[in-house]
Amino acid sequence: MAVKTFIPVVLLALLSAAKPHKKCRKVPGDAGFPDHKAWTSLNNTVCGRLAPVVPFPQFCRNLPAGQCTDEQWTSGLFRSGIAGAMDQINFEQGYDLTPPSLCFRNSTVCGQGDVPLYAVEAENVADVQAAVKFAANHNLRLAVKSSGHDLLGRSTAPNSLLIHMAKFKDMAFTDSFVVGGKDMGSALTVGPGVHLQDVFKESKAHGKIAVGGSAATVSPAGGYLQGAGHSLISPLFGLGADNVLEFQIVVASGKLLKANSAENSDLFFALRGGGAGSWGVIVSATFRTFPAFNATASVIQFALDSNAAAGAIAGVHAKHIFALDAVRGGQYFFVNPSAEFNTTVFWLRTVTANTTLEEGTALLQPFLEDALKVEGATLISKEFEQDLINDALYAEDDDIGANAVMGSRLIPTEAYEREDAPAVVEKVYRELLDAGAGALIGSLVAGGQVSANANISSAITPAWRTAKTHICVATAWDDSASLSEINTYRHLFQTAHLAILEQLSGPNAGAYSNEADIYEPDFQTTFFGPNYAKLTQIKAKYDPEDLFIVAAGVGSERWDEFGVCQV
Ligand SMILES: Cc1cc2nc3c(=O)[nH]c(=O)nc-3n(C[C@H](O)[C@H](O)[C@H](O)COP(=O)(O)OP(=O)(O)OC[C@H]3O[C@@H](n4cnc5c(N)ncnc54)[C@H](O)[C@@H]3O)c2cc1C
Ligand SMILES: *[C@@H]1O[C@H](CO)[C@@H](O)[C@H](O)[C@H]1NC(C)=O
Ligand SMILES: *[C@@H]1O[C@H](CO)[C@@H](O)[C@H](O)[C@H]1NC(C)=O
Ligand SMILES: *[C@@H]1O[C@H](CO)[C@@H](O)[C@H](O)[C@H]1NC(C)=O
Ligand SMILES: *[C@@H]1O[C@H](CO)[C@@H](O)[C@H](O)[C@H]1NC(C)=O
Ligand SMILES: *[C@@H]1O[C@H](CO)[C@@H](O)[C@H](O)[C@H]1NC(C)=O
Ligand SMILES: *[C@@H]1O[C@H](CO)[C@@H](O)[C@H](O)[C@H]1NC(C)=O
Repeated sequence: MAVKTFIPVVLLALLSAAKPHKKCRKVPGDAGFPDHKAWTSLNNTVCGRLAPVVPFPQFCRNLPAGQCTDEQWTSGLFRSGIAGAMDQINFEQGYDLTPPSLCFRNSTVCGQGDVPLYAVEAENVADVQAAVKFAANHNLRLAVKSSGHDLLGRSTAPNSLLIHMAKFKDMAFTDSFVVGGKDMGSALTVGPGVHLQDVFKESKAHGKIAVGGSAATVSPAGGYLQGAGHSLISPLFGLGADNVLEFQIVVASGKLLKANSAENSDLFFALRGGGAGSWGVIVSATFRTFPAFNATASVIQFALDSNAAAGAIAGVHAKHIFALDAVRGGQYFFVNPSAEFNTTVFWLRTVTANTTLEEGTALLQPFLEDALKVEGATLISKEFEQDLINDALYAEDDDIGANAVMGSRLIPTEAYEREDAPAVVEKVYRELLDAGAGALIGSLVAGGQVSANANISSAITPAWRTAKTHICVATAWDDSASLSEINTYRHLFQTAHLAILEQLSGPNAGAYSNEADIYEPDFQTTFFGPNYAKLTQIKAKYDPEDLFIVAAGVGSERWDEFGVCQV
């Protein structure tokens, strides 16, 4: 008997010695999870700015009216100030928790889901440092959020402590921003609570413009610049990240660092394209401003009666994709369902700098003439105007508050240069819609200066430098969908849409990490290309304990999907 049991015991000991120690973050119920006293002490350090996080639908029920209005529910501005809110409500849900933990608009009982446990509503750098050190010392799952806009849900995490940066609203303009003793010229410094609409509005008052997307509440000093930051004026001036001069960031040690071309330049490399949420807590970002100018801005809309019509008009669009090159224009081309027109529409938004109304209109004329011949496509509206660029990029609010995921590819210029490009685009669009794509969100935001900036030393994947467009395939669903349907939708990009899109992009195309699918199996290459090894080293230096882990971000391969246990 004794001999029989002896062998397994030895084997077990050997096995456990061979197995590396796997770390888990502390969650409620674990020995070592902070007790009430510890949380109170953190609360005192941050002057009472620690709050329990309430899922957004519950937050609405706690309002005096007992609910949010439809307007509040779908407002990016309203949600951006609330710790328990995400723009895409599916990211608030804990579908994958055991058991699933859910909170819908009409739920009578709410689970905490993927919403954090506590939030520090940070107002100054000391608050951020206290929260970072508390999470590090107590081995907690940390989440960082500015606007909650993230299309991959990376600014929320179950069982986490959230650092909410919405109150960092400072903006400062200068004519000469100095880096390492060198005058880099006109620039704007913003905190992560500053939204793109604030940037466009305030820079207008200064006769300036900065690179930013046409979204109201996206935070440049949050995820936008860390991902890349595309804009209708990026063909003109390069990506948002190409124009950053400096970040100030609290890293995992709790230290506040400057990252620019002269100081901590490796971290500066990573923060420009190395992926949102993987490096520390940004407390400010400084980027170039340019003199403002007038532009032709237009919206053209077609009603589409079928997927075939959608494919055909997309093919016509591809035929004319190089029409704006001479003026480095930018364009959004969306195929999406329109509630206003009760049908699918092709929506084309174009901005061309320094063109007269006549010139700007003439640039789109060849497309328009061909599009008018597409069977099943009916022109709904065609509006051209001359606007100050700030007004052309400005958005009043973001219409959000639905369940949606997306996947994407950067489409190489080469793909559009092929003689059969219009036919390929037509086929791809039709097949994607037939395969259940809810919306096809195209952005002509590369080429021009984005390509010309190829030699900037930053983590921007080279795929951006050879791309012409960025195409996202979105899938949406209602709260009434079953969990198994939802799981099908969440994986539809990998199971169905990607293979179709690759007919256009080719098999090894990159993707924009900020507007993408968290289930990319090789996100390291798809999002970061040849830079991943270097990014891994930089992460090891500034975040050796992996305090800042997000889905499909640098180092995330070492953690489970919740960022709670190492795998
Ligand atoms: C309606 C809409 C329009 C968009 N338009 C564009 C566009 O035109 N161009 C474009 O390039 N992108 C666009 N995006 C994508 C956008 O760039 C990303 O969603 C981006 O991550 C938003 O950053 P945020 O800080 O505002 O969001 P959040 O959800 O707050 O954060 C996003 C990510 O950044 C991290 N993060 C946030 N704040 C900080 C901080 N202070 N320090 C460190 N990490 C932080 C979070 O952890 C998370 O990983 C759009 C998104 C939406 C929903
Ligand atoms: C932190 O302190 C404030 C002010 O005293 C209080 O309102 C809040 O509830 C406290 N937070 C927590 C998590 O106890
Ligand atoms: C939820 O309630 C709102 C307001 O009462 C109602 O308009 C809406 O149709 C309901 N939604 C669902 C999905 O049941
Ligand atoms: C834009 O055009 C308006 C009207 O023609 C003009 O008054 C204004 O000075 C122009 N602005 C710039 C920055 O060129
Ligand atoms: C919207 O379109 C569908 C099908 O095309 C039709 O059945 C429905 O009546 C329309 N709704 C409205 C409000 O026009
Ligand atoms: C617009 O035109 C003016 C005058 O020619 C020029 O100085 C400026 O650089 C141009 N701006 C852009 C964005 O092309
Ligand atoms: C980048 O640098 C390489 C090597 O010096 C050069 O061949 C290439 O033309 C440069 N690319 C751009 C876009 O400037």
